[in-house]
Amino acid sequence: MLTGGQTPARIDWMPVPAEVRVRTGRFSLDSSFAVTIEGAATDRLSRACVRLMRRISDRTGLFFERESATGALPLSAPGMTVAAGREGRVALGEDESYSLEISADGIRLSAVTDIGCLRGMETVFQLLNADADASGYGFPCLTVRDRPRFQWRGLLIDASRHFMPPDVIYRNLDGMAAVKLNVLHWHLSDDQGFRVESRTFPKLHGLGSDGLFYSQEEIRRIVAYASDRGIRVVPEFDMPGHVTSWLAGYPELTHRPGPFRIERRWGVWSPAMDPTRKSTYRFLERFIGEMTGLFPDEYFHIGGDEVEGKPWMEDPDILAYMKKHGLPDAAGLQTHFTLRVQKILASHRRKMVGWDEILTPGLLSGAVIQSWRGREALVEAASRGMGAILSNGYYIDLVQPSAFHYLNDPLTPDMNLSEAEAANVLGGEATMWAELVTAETVDSRIWPRAAAIAERLWSPADVRDIGDMHRRLRSVSLSLEQAGLTHIRNRGVLMRRLAEGADTGPLETLLSAVEPVKNYRRHSMRPFTTFSPLTRIADAAVPDAEDGLLFRSLVESWLTESGADSGAEAIRRQLILWRDNHEAMLPLIRRSPMLAEIESLSSDLSEAAEFGLQAVDFRLSGRPPEKEWTDRILLRLGEMAEPRAEVELAVLEAIRKLAVQP
Ligand code: ACM
Repeated sequence: MLTGGQTPARIDWMPVPAEVRVRTGRFSLDSSFAVTIEGAATDRLSRACVRLMRRISDRTGLFFERESATGALPLSAPGMTVAAGREGRVALGEDESYSLEISADGIRLSAVTDIGCLRGMETVFQLLNADADASGYGFPCLTVRDRPRFQWRGLLIDASRHFMPPDVIYRNLDGMAAVKLNVLHWHLSDDQGFRVESRTFPKLHGLGSDGLFYSQEEIRRIVAYASDRGIRVVPEFDMPGHVTSWLAGYPELTHRPGPFRIERRWGVWSPAMDPTRKSTYRFLERFIGEMTGLFPDEYFHIGGDEVEGKPWMEDPDILAYMKKHGLPDAAGLQTHFTLRVQKILASHRRKMVGWDEILTPGLLSGAVIQSWRGREALVEAASRGMGAILSNGYYIDLVQPSAFHYLNDPLTPDMNLSEAEAANVLGGEATMWAELVTAETVDSRIWPRAAAIAERLWSPADVRDIGDMHRRLRSVSLSLEQAGLTHIRNRGVLMRRLAEGADTGPLETLLSAVEPVKNYRRHSMRPFTTFSPLTRIADAAVPDAEDGLLFRSLVESWLTESGADSGAEAIRRQLILWRDNHEAMLPLIRRSPMLAEIESLSSDLSEAAEFGLQAVDFRLSGRPPEKEWTDRILLRLGEMAEPRAEVELAVLEAIRKLAVQP
């Protein structure tokens, strides 16, 4: 039994299943292949079978002769049977386990629920590959018993800061399904935009969205599409802070004088709802009533983050109210608000989810806490008997390496939780905040890194081999692109725009060694607003720049294997490419004003690569460089580390390692 750790070299699945037994042999595909349903033939399952047939046929070029899911297969015709015990509920805690048996005679997938079958079908699709001798396509023979480690495996998409049209949501739901994520946390309102059509309060989207919002029909279709993939949709309407866009239409929700306009700048803004007015709750009662009609999930996210208490504390009416109700401070007032909203939600049979700020001593049980400022709230919520989900360490908008997110585990022994408390840790969510992405670039900030987080949330805790993860992620990334995501192809669009129609080859080479600056640093480099262009080199650059990553690992292994010549050759080839690239970049820079900002970066890459080549030569010759050479190189590499155009060279550390001789 192979459980966790490395998976066989030709299996590029993600997330790795809980239990796997790989056997010899393959099930070979031919045009007689079909998928047949046994057991509960739900609409969800038959549609998934049709999609699977289509995907397999697209992937292999095979013209299947039989329709899928139309009844029992003739005994002579090998294929795939899918057997679900019952229809699953798209709800927290539903059974998603499945068993998969692939033998030379065919594929058998069975599960308690049709949702479990859907999860297993993604595994089946990931197992499909070309035969080693390229004679055709097939699947390795194996047995899998699989189930998720955590039941809440989410992706937050912020559609407020930049509107994300329905297509973005649809294709990301397909991506989520492919890696077994099961919660779309849809951040639908914030200071910069209110994105849902409200018929009860039409000025919400009418004055709060610049016309960029989802109609109720679009919401219903998206929720149905998600449900068809076994994915819950948890809406978030952030309150009582982050509400400027609401106030554009309904200034009476706050205690401060209006008028208000949609906020165009990023950051944390002080307008907040007035928690002391009855009218605020009457509004929320009707609003929540309307929205729960659109969003069937049992959970409803009310935000609750980053409320600036100061304006409340400067209002004499609010202070008098607080005194009357024995509320000591702004946090107490917010808790008062949160509890009232929780009651409204309960009257609509909804459970409350909120960011970790809502976890105050006065909060009652029954809420789910989303831990983002650290892990402390996760531990506290779980030990106080509340559901807890982790997002701290999963902020994919901060463009950190996938390995960083991958190793971030929601449940570690040092949390010292009892078994019952640990069960309150429901899982985690990757968060795609949208200040610095548009519909054009958002996929490239979500994928493929969210797949690494999906594995952390699904697979056994001991699946932690970073090299193996990177190997599989490369392949999964291509498969995600085939599922419709634009994270790879969008770069071509950005580069062609930047190159003013010229050949983008040199730009691609430059980008292979460049990454966007990480964390919140980009915000400190320019005053970004809603209207800022997100089409520059920093938007085309991605974390884990692929050639940079490969180069770093080539250097690592060459230095530890003390100088195998083949390693040196691969390193030299890459360095020569980078060294010569600046000359090819110059004509591009001359014709594209947008590229002027990277001229020095491009020439630095060339210079750094030349240093690398010299360093490799020193090592190969066995003749160490003069100290003066090393000092000069290290000084220059240090200078080159300074970001330009909000990007940085991602290969300097590896070149520094080459230059520093033992
Ligand atoms: C948050 O990032 N303000 C939840």
